[in-house]
Amino acid sequence: MKITVLTLFPDMIKPVISQSIIGRAIYEKKLQIDVIDYRTFSLNKHHKVDDTPYGGGAGMVLQAEPVVRALRAVEGHEKALKILMTPQGEPYKQSQAKALSKAEHLIILCGHYEGFDERIRPYFDQEISIGDYVLTGGEVAALVVIDSTIRLIPGVLNKDASHEEDSFSDGLLEYPHYTRPPVYEGQAVPDVLLSGHHQAIASWRRAESIKRTRTRRPDLYEAYLKRQKNP
Ligand code: ADE
Repeated sequence: MKITVLTLFPDMIKPVISQSIIGRAIYEKKLQIDVIDYRTFSLNKHHKVDDTPYGGGAGMVLQAEPVVRALRAVEGHEKALKILMTPQGEPYKQSQAKALSKAEHLIILCGHYEGFDERIRPYFDQEISIGDYVLTGGEVAALVVIDSTIRLIPGVLNKDASHEEDSFSDGLLEYPHYTRPPVYEGQAVPDVLLSGHHQAIASWRRAESIKRTRTRRPDLYEAYLKRQKNP
């Protein structure tokens, strides 16, 4: 997979993608991430990319021209899935991460300033919000999308690290995990996990997963019940 990130702050992206699983996937050539500073596409002699809003009001607005010029300069941009990070986008979910992980090339635009010129929108296929809060820019949001997407590319996680049982992957939160020691400061590992009975362990985990979803995320639990009634 190839990801092209268009940003005014490449240094908010580069150190993060060089680390851990993303860094290893790039090193192993399972992933290519290009980070492009779209300020370099400004035709303004001072490399300005923003201006005051028509109609007045506070703050500055990102101009369409440098963004669209940068987008058109990306090799293969016609075929790529072009994503705009904005709090006005579709709320981001694990199901979208799954869909994006199948794409060959993603181009992700990180906005900045108070907002962007509305005429940028038609150049993008999809708008994504990572939650109902406003960040200073789209960089952190783009990293969330990148991280959650690339770990679903086959071969990116360790062979035995499965994402099949991730929270949300089947609409439920994940069951609780335990490792050594068997008792930590008076808290014991549930007996069933030490029993070696695979069937019993699987049933316990499923029940815990459902219980946890019911208490912590009633919204997901309701959706789960509906699915059980009408599969
Ligand atoms: N840019 C600023 N806030 C954002 C959000 N919540 N999601 C995506 N992009 C953003």
